[in-house]
Amino acid sequence: VIPVWLDCDPGHDDAVAVLLSCFHPSIRLLGISASYGNASPENTLYNTLSLLTAFGKQDEIPVYKGAQRPWVRDVAYAPDIHGESGLDGTTLLPKPKHPFIEGSYVEAMEHAILESEGNITIVSTGTLTSVATLLKEKPYLKKHVKYISIMGGGINSGNRNDNDSAEFNIWADPDAANFVFRDEIIKDKCVLSPLDLTHTCLATSNVDKVILGDGSSKLRKLFYELFLFFAKTYKNKQGFEAGPPVHDPVTLMPLLYLYGHISNEVLQFHFERYDLSVDNDPTSLDYGRTVVTQTYAHDSNIGIIVGLQINVDFFWNQVFNALAVAEQY
Ligand code: BDR
Ligand code: CA
Repeated sequence: VIPVWLDCDPGHDDAVAVLLSCFHPSIRLLGISASYGNASPENTLYNTLSLLTAFGKQDEIPVYKGAQRPWVRDVAYAPDIHGESGLDGTTLLPKPKHPFIEGSYVEAMEHAILESEGNITIVSTGTLTSVATLLKEKPYLKKHVKYISIMGGGINSGNRNDNDSAEFNIWADPDAANFVFRDEIIKDKCVLSPLDLTHTCLATSNVDKVILGDGSSKLRKLFYELFLFFAKTYKNKQGFEAGPPVHDPVTLMPLLYLYGHISNEVLQFHFERYDLSVDNDPTSLDYGRTVVTQTYAHDSNIGIIVGLQINVDFFWNQVFNALAVAEQY
């Protein structure tokens, strides 16, 4: 199995990443750090604990407080997309049954990394503040991480800033993102799922139907309601008519191929290898934009693996299967 640490900011699409991390048969979730991002760190922590409670996983997955604010810039949340709570749109989220673990996420991640002996992937579905802080404080860990799989950035599209050229997770802490993308050891271990890829993974009305099933499952109804809210804000604020892009769980798909669990005939993963840099000049109209600074041959092992396409039906089937497992749990 693939050992994973998840740093997230739930978040409607983060909730699906938590679901898949908990219930995909190829993944073993070692712990979660809940960081500021879509909402305040208090809210994302509450949402994480509440989701785990809904899954019956509250006693199994250790949850820590992640990064509380960006490195340099002022904090900005995304209530326009996720509501004030970060997970608006449902009344079915239970009160968390289990507390978070007091203590530093940096040390908790350090333990998880060392215990998995070079085989761990850190999955980042929020800003890169937690990951960058970990690697800044404990640079020796860079060598012990197999991959860092990141939802963030856009090569040809954006969803924030005046030019619509930046993606939220990167824009919300461009300095931390630069630290990760420009690090000589780390960059070659990064797997990026940018908007170019995640905008193909839409929760269409057909997807919603499968999620809801016959309507008798509370967990299915919870996700259904979250998807409807997400669809509404994505339609009104971003003009997505066919359904909202469910970005964050996409980060797990390339891992199934990279760890050899499935062939690329199944995943149909198309990627390029790039060096990236983030515009972190606060006066720039492209503030937060990810810029390609170097391209490498496709089969090279240098540069960030930037995902551009996957088999979308396969992706949704992974989500549906995880939900079916969760329902029985
Ligand atoms: C990213 O920003 C957040 O709003 C989502 O959860 C996702 O991680 C998409 O730009
Ligand atoms: Ca997110």
